[in-house]
Amino acid sequence: MSAQDQHRMPTGVTGVDTMLHGGLIPGRPYVVAGGHGTGKTTFCVQFLQQGVRQGERALFVAIDEPPAELRENVRFLGWDVGKIRILDVHPAAKAYSRKVSLVEVAAQRSVGSLREARADSKTETMKQMSPDLSPQSLQLMLRQELQEVKYSRLVIDSLTSLKGLSGGEEDIDTGIVSLLRFLSEANLTSLLVTDFDDPEALEPEMFLSRGIIRFHKVMTGSKMERCVWVEKFRGSAHDTQPRPMMITKSGITVESEKKVGKQVQKALTSVPHDL
Ligand SMILES: Nc1ncnc2c1ncn2[C@@H]1O[C@H](COP(=O)(O)OP(=O)(O)O)[C@@H](O)[C@H]1O
Ligand SMILES: [Mg+2]
Repeated sequence: MSAQDQHRMPTGVTGVDTMLHGGLIPGRPYVVAGGHGTGKTTFCVQFLQQGVRQGERALFVAIDEPPAELRENVRFLGWDVGKIRILDVHPAAKAYSRKVSLVEVAAQRSVGSLREARADSKTETMKQMSPDLSPQSLQLMLRQELQEVKYSRLVIDSLTSLKGLSGGEEDIDTGIVSLLRFLSEANLTSLLVTDFDDPEALEPEMFLSRGIIRFHKVMTGSKMERCVWVEKFRGSAHDTQPRPMMITKSGITVESEKKVGKQVQKALTSVPHDL
């Protein structure tokens, strides 16, 4: 069976599924790229919500924003916090009040201390016990999580912060390569958020990921226009055009039949990677 005949996983944004000719190929890692405020986190939350709606287990690794802030930011999407698990590895994590069925676990290097964190989470609040964060420690945490629950969908928001916050002694690129391999072996469909990428730099996630979905926002006069572009999708044909999108109170909507305006097209062509 070729990848094109495979079952597709809906992303939660219909227009993006159209651009992907049916959805993501499950069990693979993908990059969600774009500048700040372009809609990456919103897209990722819609992706996890879609999984929850289908009865799948969904895990959000929160690095950029602490869970409380994240919940606040995506409240407009009606995020059901009880069903998406948030693994809190935000470096400034302190104590969070705990809600039933929502477990927030601080960054831990060893499985032993992760167990202690779990035990702590049974109390009303828990504290971050170690600021240690690296692709390796995250892999260890995910390994532990997956032993207990069979997740189908995973988001890491963001890989950029994971790299930036990683301590010095480990090789970050090697850690990322190993993390991506682990994610595919675990058969997780994962979205790895990258905030910014230098087209000159050969970041391992850019060539190892099976697809790149890129979000842009462009100022045309006094108006801000948004668009989404499937830059790469291994194993499948896909729409190669950027398409206009909007973020409204029902989340991201994409006009997959429409072309972006001339000014947007021009901006994308002249500076394709840093918008
Ligand atoms: N209720 C809303 N209605 C319309 N747009 C919103 C709403 N909430 C957030 N947004 C827009 O979504 C953007 C946030 O997108 P987000 O997914 O957090 O971006 P990123 O993760 O790429 O930084 C905000 O900058 C804002 O413009
Ligand atoms: Mg974000």
